[in-house]
Amino acid sequence: MPIKSLVRTIPNHPKPGIMFRDITTLLKDPVGFRITIQELVSRYLDWGIQKVVGIESRGFILAAPLAYAIGAGFVPIRKPGKLPADTIGHDYELEYGSDRVEIHTDAIAPSERVLLVDDLIATGGTALASVELIDQLGGQTVECAFVISLPDLGGVKLLQERGLDCHVLAE
Ligand code: PRP
Ligand code: ADE
Repeated sequence: MPIKSLVRTIPNHPKPGIMFRDITTLLKDPVGFRITIQELVSRYLDWGIQKVVGIESRGFILAAPLAYAIGAGFVPIRKPGKLPADTIGHDYELEYGSDRVEIHTDAIAPSERVLLVDDLIATGGTALASVELIDQLGGQTVECAFVISLPDLGGVKLLQERGLDCHVLAE
């Protein structure tokens, strides 16, 4: 069962004109969830990744089991005010608004090999802001992985223009 066929599209959520790609239908499918994680595990198992960074909230669902399976640590990037210790943050624009992401200052050590994971890339604003935080901590983002890309919104192109490697499971 291809991953893409298990993702449903909800028109006009959360705002008119947005075609929302809903991964809950993929996650609730035992085979779909398993092959999604397994595809990522088989790609990254031997990359020497030390931290898998997941972006709140849907990125957590993928990044945590992947980190566990490849023997890496899990690091959350969160929305403002959620992380309890010292943080750095970065503001960015979203397809349906603007937001800010934050990370603990001690989450990544200098030159650690980091994999950034999120469920979806649209404009790329969230991922780029997240890479900026990893950079500021001295981490080395070896790749950015997404289950879904919305190519019309240019996110992967934007990241590639900034010299970042991207891996997408479904368009
Ligand atoms: C969604 C998605 C990505 C981001 C992608 O998260 O999970 O993190 O948007 O958009 P971009 O490429 O245009 O930046 P959202 O902010 O909706 O939060 P959620 O995961 O908590 O639902
Ligand atoms: N994040 C940004 N754009 C999105 C979309 N169209 N569907 C799901 N998540 C999103």
